[in-house]
Amino acid sequence: MMAKTILITGASSGIGRATALLFADKGWNVAATLRDPLRADSALRHPNISLFALDVTKADSIAQAVVDALARYQTIDVLLNNAGYGLFGPIEALDDRQIQQQFATNLFGLIGVTQQVLPIMRAAGEGLILNISSIIGRMALPYASSYIATKFAVEGLSESMRYELEPFHIRVKIVEPGSIATEFGKGSMQMAVRDPYRASMNKFLSVFTKSNSAGAKPEEVAKVIYRAANDSSNRLRYLAKPGPFFWLNRILPDAIWRRLLVKVMVS
Ligand SMILES: NC(=O)c1ccc[n+]([C@@H]2O[C@H](COP(=O)([O-])OP(=O)(O)OC[C@H]3O[C@@H](n4cnc5c(N)ncnc54)[C@H](OP(=O)(O)O)[C@@H]3O)[C@@H](O)[C@H]2O)c1
Repeated sequence: MMAKTILITGASSGIGRATALLFADKGWNVAATLRDPLRADSALRHPNISLFALDVTKADSIAQAVVDALARYQTIDVLLNNAGYGLFGPIEALDDRQIQQQFATNLFGLIGVTQQVLPIMRAAGEGLILNISSIIGRMALPYASSYIATKFAVEGLSESMRYELEPFHIRVKIVEPGSIATEFGKGSMQMAVRDPYRASMNKFLSVFTKSNSAGAKPEEVAKVIYRAANDSSNRLRYLAKPGPFFWLNRILPDAIWRRLLVKVMVS
C-alpha cells in the first residue's frame, strides 16, 4: 500500500513536532512545515520527513509550501492545522496589532492553508482536515480573550466546513488538547498587562503556567491526532488530555463553576 501524506503546520516544536515524528515512525510521508526550516532539530531530519518553509500569515509562503509538498509527495491526504500561539492580557491592554496578529496566525492562517489544500483533496476525491483547537475552544478563561476567541472560531469554522466538504469525501476533525508542556507556556505566549488588572492577572498567569509546565507531553496529543487521522468515522471532536478543570466546567452549574474559577485563578 502506498504511504499516506500529512502536511503539518508549526512543526518546529511541541505538538506539531511530536506529531511529525510519530507519523514518520509509522511510515507516513510527512511534509513538516516550519517558519524557519533551518531551526529544525536533528530528530526532524528523518527519512520520512521533508521540511518546507511556511509562515501561515503569509499567502505566498503558504502557496509555495503546498506546491513544494505536492511536488515531493504528489498528494496531501491529511492537513494538520497546528500552528498557533496564545496572546494573554486583559482586553483593555491588548492593542490592535496584537489582536490582528493573533487572528492572522490562529484563524486566518488556518483558513489560508486549508483553502490551498482543498482543491488537491477535491481532485483526489478524499481527504482529512485536522484542526487543533483547545479545551479553551469550548470553555473560556479570563485574560486570554482574543486567544480564546480564535479557538472558539476554529470550532465553529470546522463544524461548518464538515457539512460542505462531506459531498467531496473530505472529513473535518477537531483535536482539543488540555494543558500540554510545550513551548506554548514558555516562549510562545505573548503578554500585555496593565493596572488595575495586574495583581489578578499575575495570579492567573502563575496558575496557568504552572498547570502548563506540569501538563501532559506533546507525544500524548500526537497519539490522539494519529487515532483521529486513522478513524474513518465522521466523529468531529477528539479531546486530548483535557484534565479535571474541563470536566468540572462541563458538569457544574454555572454559578458554582464561576465561583470556583475566580477563587482558583483570579482572586
Ligand atoms: N500547549 C498547550 O497547552 C496547548 C493546549 C491547547 C491547544 N494548543 C494548541 O496547540 C498548537 C500547537 O502549540 P504547542 O503547544 O505545540 O506550542 P509550541 O511548541 O509553541 O508550537 C507552536 C508552533 O506554531 C508555530 N507558529 C507560530 N506562529 C506561526 C506562523 N505565523 N506560521 C507558522 N507557524 C507558526 C511555531 O513556530 P515557530 O517555532 O516558528 O515559532 C511552533 O512550531 C497551537 O495551535 C496551540 O494553540 C496548545
